[in-house]
Amino acid sequence: MLSHLLALAGIESVAIDLRRRREIEATHRAGILERDSVRMLIDTGVSDRVLRDGHEHKGIDLRFDGVSHRIDFQALVGASTWLYPQTDVFIDLVEARERDGGDIRFGVTDTQVLDITDARPGIRFADADGVGHEIRCRYLVGADGSRSLCRFEVPATERQQYFREYPFAWFGILAEAPKSAPELIYARSDRGFALISQRTPTLQRMYFQCAPTENVDDWSNDRIWHELQARIAGRDGYALHEGRVLEKSVLPFRSFVQEPIRYGNMLLVGDAAHTVPPTGAKGLNLALADVRVLAELLERAIVKNDTQALDHYTPRALARVWKAQNFSYWMTTMLHQLPDATDFDNRRQLGELEMVVTSESGSRYLAEAYTGWPTP
Ligand code: PHB
Repeated sequence: MLSHLLALAGIESVAIDLRRRREIEATHRAGILERDSVRMLIDTGVSDRVLRDGHEHKGIDLRFDGVSHRIDFQALVGASTWLYPQTDVFIDLVEARERDGGDIRFGVTDTQVLDITDARPGIRFADADGVGHEIRCRYLVGADGSRSLCRFEVPATERQQYFREYPFAWFGILAEAPKSAPELIYARSDRGFALISQRTPTLQRMYFQCAPTENVDDWSNDRIWHELQARIAGRDGYALHEGRVLEKSVLPFRSFVQEPIRYGNMLLVGDAAHTVPPTGAKGLNLALADVRVLAELLERAIVKNDTQALDHYTPRALARVWKAQNFSYWMTTMLHQLPDATDFDNRRQLGELEMVVTSESGSRYLAEAYTGWPTP
């Protein structure tokens, strides 16, 4: 997205990725886009496929004590989110860059970042055929994900890393089954959290809270469905449509922020700079928000020669990041079971959920944060 936005401003870029294109296209990731993420794809001319192949969600269900409560985004804040998997966003972006003559190189190896505090930082790597290259540039962007190496280019004495680990993870499945709900259900139960999501009319995505050490091979189809059904069961008799589990995996879970996210002529974006737990569906949306700010500042720095422009990157991007960190942490702790939870903790958690669904201010905070704070 950043290389696309820079191209619109007449700025040249080269993007390199360790993984191969087909590999990225086949990796399952979260699927919820905020309102402004959808606008960005459409308004900048990437693609409007999200409007055809995506699904508008006008709210979510919070389910607890065996009853579902709808948080109506449209009624509360006049916004929607869109179910449109990150892999589809990736496919659209790569096609847009190809269409516009962008330079993206997949499947590179042996990367080495060079001279980030010099006027001409660079990167050395071997391309997919093993041929060595060195590229020099004005600015180097570290968009290298949650296991970022670029973030460690900021000297230890100059950076602060904020962490929050959680004593649980998500067990994610992809199942061949009809939809169990038209929109997402975030469920809290005494057995732990569960999330009912979708992909297509015949392919469903669901998650349940598990131990970080959980082994997917210990989980048969039957055991998975039994656990999911138990977590959403209630007096309304609601039950999931079951089917063959095609894929299962354990997803890591953590909160992380590095500060600063600009050092010399290197800028960090997305998961390289910050990671959120998946409960608020903020990961991809935050990366797009970073890039929206960064593209504007890079344009000022490069085209308008405004040498101070990039000083604004860390404070502007992290203002949104910390709000999203709080939201993701809040959704997580409100809906998950801590291993050492007492009866008091459980009753308090139900009190909090009750407040959210019965108070318009409570529901509106959730709706506003979930659909994404408006961006200028
Ligand atoms: C997904 O559909 O994969 C998904 C949706 C919402 C989340 C996380 C994942 O909060």
